[in-house]
Amino acid sequence: MHIVVRESDEEVGRYAADVIAQIVRRGGATIGLATGSSPMSTYAELIRLHKEEGLSFADTQAFTLDEYVGLAPDHEQSYHKTIRDAIVDHIDLPLSHLNTPNGVAENLVAEAERHESNIRKAGGVDVQLLGIGNNGHIGFNEPSSSLASRTRVESLTQSTIDANARFFENPDDVPRLCITQGLGTIMECGVALLVAQGESKADAIAAMVEGPVTASCPASVLQFHPHAIVVVDEAAASKLKDRAYYDLAQANRERLIANGGTL
Ligand code: F6R
Repeated sequence: MHIVVRESDEEVGRYAADVIAQIVRRGGATIGLATGSSPMSTYAELIRLHKEEGLSFADTQAFTLDEYVGLAPDHEQSYHKTIRDAIVDHIDLPLSHLNTPNGVAENLVAEAERHESNIRKAGGVDVQLLGIGNNGHIGFNEPSSSLASRTRVESLTQSTIDANARFFENPDDVPRLCITQGLGTIMECGVALLVAQGESKADAIAAMVEGPVTASCPASVLQFHPHAIVVVDEAAASKLKDRAYYDLAQANRERLIANGGTL
């Protein structure tokens, strides 16, 4: 894993957006988008790169990680609507290139399989942006998810329901089920790019990077990913034991990149 520690949320966003922009600029990219608070600074920077520096997403395809079951795509808190508000409606990615599972599909199992097979048909995800839950989930793969799981209907833990209640008027309105890309699905992406900010993520980040690979911390499966980049602020990095080594390794990588290497 590449561990990149930055001083502020804004700098986390700038670093992550630069990784995505490099892949988008190659043309015909497929990007994986996450919802929640963590990717917001990355989206803000991607929007700036689009508006001020001509970064175009016109030939990019996008897939979201997950969707709440029971919320129609135009519901204020659906992940389809959230991702449109956060980034898609502010860049030139055609709406027809945005692929989200439909949380009100009649056959949810078939809908999950459709999302999975559309990712495969698109040739896989080149770069997948990820946040991490306080309990170590990525996508909505809660602790106990199979490390080989595929896109499926899943139950949210009480901890995730509580964490996401802030987006709803009434905590009882938080859906209990979701469709999520599986850990096996996520692991097939070219670059796994996880961003996290704040003290509340410090335990999950330490468990993911320095703990055992275990379904109890689903994000730890990324230790098996050949190209995982973890971009965190100081607070989210605060429980990492081997911090000095990560800083040294990142400084060396930046030197190699400055000398013409690629990320
Ligand atoms: C959202 C998702 C989740 C979030 C995670 C962190 O699409 O897949 O894994 O990334 O719950 O959420 P925030 O960023 O709101 O702390």
